[in-house]
Amino acid sequence: MKKRALMTLKVILIGLLVVATIVATVQLGINSPVPWLLGFLVVTLSAYNKLCDKHKFIRWKQEYSVGIKSIDNEHQKLLGLINRFLTASRDHPSTFYEQEALEELVDYTRYHFKHEEALMEKHGYPDLEAHKKEHQAMVARVNELVEDYNIRGQEALEDTAAYLKHWLVNHIQVVDQQYSDYMHKRGVH
Ligand SMILES: [Fe+2]
Ligand SMILES: [Fe+2]
Repeated sequence: MKKRALMTLKVILIGLLVVATIVATVQLGINSPVPWLLGFLVVTLSAYNKLCDKHKFIRWKQEYSVGIKSIDNEHQKLLGLINRFLTASRDHPSTFYEQEALEELVDYTRYHFKHEEALMEKHGYPDLEAHKKEHQAMVARVNELVEDYNIRGQEALEDTAAYLKHWLVNHIQVVDQQYSDYMHKRGVH
């Protein structure tokens, strides 16, 4: 709630500064330093806002690739769904959109795990059971977070988003990388 209120405040402040810049330009003229100063504040605040947002979202990096096209595509979609969840929670005043985005993210995570496990099983990956356990632990933790989110709403959002971001990126970068070479040796790309 606090974060959303802060976000709304920032938007109102930028809006007020834009109006003040226009009024100052009309009243004092373009040669006055006041409209320039206000304009500078608008640009700086907007840029700062954008920069803050940028850090919240996850971008796909080549180092995340496991070198298997279908898996990379699914990992990219997962990161996209996390970003969608973050956007929904930031831009929509009702919880409906973030709930919908969270459900889609959870469903797609389950779908991806199933696909990944089936692929490992098909090719006799020796660490399949350990990998499955990692997936199961994540699903269990996400179920807890979803329950917490359903009870506490927006307040639980930060924990949920932080966990999903951290876990998925870490899992993709570390655990999923471990089957990469094995699969490549079996011609899976
Ligand atoms: Fe994965
Ligand atoms: Fe995995």
